Amino acid sequence: MMLTKFTAPWLSEILIVVSMLLAACKSGEGGAGESPPSSSSAPAPAATAIKIGLIAPFSGPFASLGAQMEGGMRAWLDTHGGAVAGRKVELLVRDVTGIAPDVAKRLAQGLIVRDNVDFLAGFALTPNALAVAPLATEAKKPMVIMNAATSIITTRSPYIVRVSLTLPQVTAPLATWAFENGIHNVYTLVSDYAPGLDAEQQFLETFQAAGGKVVDSVRVPTSNPDFAPFVQRIKDVHPEAVFVFVPAGTQGIAFMKAFHERGLASAGIKLIATGDLTEDQQLPAMGDEALGVVTTHHYSAAHDSPENAAFKAAFTKAAQGGLTPNFMAVGGYDGMAAIAAVVDKLGGTIDGDRAMEAFKGLELQSPRGPIRIDPETRDIIQTVYVRKVERREAGLFNVEFASFPAQKDPGK
Ligand code: PHB
Repeated sequence: MMLTKFTAPWLSEILIVVSMLLAACKSGEGGAGESPPSSSSAPAPAATAIKIGLIAPFSGPFASLGAQMEGGMRAWLDTHGGAVAGRKVELLVRDVTGIAPDVAKRLAQGLIVRDNVDFLAGFALTPNALAVAPLATEAKKPMVIMNAATSIITTRSPYIVRVSLTLPQVTAPLATWAFENGIHNVYTLVSDYAPGLDAEQQFLETFQAAGGKVVDSVRVPTSNPDFAPFVQRIKDVHPEAVFVFVPAGTQGIAFMKAFHERGLASAGIKLIATGDLTEDQQLPAMGDEALGVVTTHHYSAAHDSPENAAFKAAFTKAAQGGLTPNFMAVGGYDGMAAIAAVVDKLGGTIDGDRAMEAFKGLELQSPRGPIRIDPETRDIIQTVYVRKVERREAGLFNVEFASFPAQKDPGK
């Protein structure tokens, strides 16, 4: 039989492709209109492009997240000749439209089976990343998380590496800072899905351990939340501060508006949050109401380093529509840099298992500062900064004033 002529890696690759295609057809996800595996699903010869499948939202309420990520990846590519280890890099961009795990799965199946990508990348939103994790395992495809920040994600597949952050990683330093700076009772408000629950849990744990008290907690809907009634309840309780996690994008603007309209700021209630609330793209739209808000995060556009200056210049050229880069863009940029470093280490020939070994322990000088991939967890180790919104000549910025170096994900 012909099959005996194949070497073992060929055979297993083909079997995986066939089984995924059958699964796709059976579930109706991605089956319709997709051609059966052809000779193009065989491993690419070294001269062809390295293909990266980018799954992120480019429409709907989280559309800015995808634009930021893609802009970051293109900024890296534009400043590095669009190639790695002698191979051109091709981005295959797919719009997941929002929190849509089934769409994410269907897109990933298409990218793996039909397009035969070398890497899956992107993943702004946790539910989408979790949905794709089993496919990465089955196909042995490295999956580079450029934002999705729930602690558990990297445990869902040995083929996942994260270059962004985890919510517990940025929340624990804020709880520590708040207690040490005279805030002793806090009301928490988080978005009601996995990263929000991670943030709520970590704040409670670290703040209580320090001696603080969480007086109450509320979870708000993930889509179009009306913050007014939640904020009113918080005002009635009158804690010293509110701790907030809402996903990056326009929700931060809506929250800030409700916080001021209901008079919490004038009642002396402080606002502390993860940096998602005051992310760099949306900050100008918040206006002076954001002044003085203290947040913790891994990246600020105001970070003072030559790497950040170069990144911002490259992003401004690469991205459409005059976007200000935020942490999502840095995730794309560093994710691209990490993929390039791995492809280089592998001499341009990609193998899923060898690629994952190469990610482990990888160190980069990011626009945010030094970063390292923890070889044990494939999660990121990085500095978490404490920042305050201030007005500078060029507008509003998250100005870093303290830092917690070499933070691991405390969730693991
Ligand atoms: C997530 O879904 O994991 C997520 C989304 C937006 C953020 C942070 C985390 O700003």
